[in-house]
Amino acid sequence: MKVVGIGGTLREGSSTERLVGAVLEACARAGAQTELFGGSTLAALPHFDPQGVQRTPEETRLVEAVRTCDALVIGSPGYHGGVSGLVKNAIDLLEDLRQDARPYFDGRPVGLIVSAAGWQATGVTLAALRGIVHAMRGWPTPLGIAVNTVVQRPFGADGALADSDIAGAIEAQAAQIMAFGKVTA
Ligand SMILES: Cc1cc2nc3c(=O)[nH]c(=O)nc-3n(C[C@H](O)[C@H](O)[C@H](O)COP(=O)(O)O)c2cc1C
Repeated sequence: MKVVGIGGTLREGSSTERLVGAVLEACARAGAQTELFGGSTLAALPHFDPQGVQRTPEETRLVEAVRTCDALVIGSPGYHGGVSGLVKNAIDLLEDLRQDARPYFDGRPVGLIVSAAGWQATGVTLAALRGIVHAMRGWPTPLGIAVNTVVQRPFGADGALADSDIAGAIEAQAAQIMAFGKVTA
């Protein structure tokens, strides 16, 4: 199974990117091949142009990775009560998959993660991501992960996961991704 992760910010040590990476690592431990498109990679994408212009190598890499994957993990920070522009621009580029035999995220599980400084933003942003995945014909896993970075400390100074509740949620989401992805792969 191939699992593609999309998400992160340009902040050094982005919690969003590390959380997406942690779900990918859990999937890899269960046998998946994984690829992460983190903040700096997403920042190399130009603003999405819907007019069928020549895509850059970075754009093509993301579109091909999603085209050939069996499952996804998408993470966004809550920015001003919603999905960040960096992450949404990458998702919009996947419009290039609209005419595929398996369009967009069709039939595939998508694990969702939000990191924000308050519970309200984690909730509304997670709901927005679920709406996006439904619009793109994907199947959000039952468990979405919402991390409040003000009241929770997901990672320790060594960069390892330090919160057992979050670690448990990551393992559970990865298990749901792998179980559903194996059925539809
Ligand atoms: C431009 C911007 C807007 C933000 N808007 C919100 C918000 O509306 N609600 C909230 O709870 N946190 C907000 N935050 C805080 C981030 O969501 C939070 O710090 C998040 O964990 C950052 O993710 P990162 O560690 O991946 O950079 C905002 C941060 C920035 C930089």
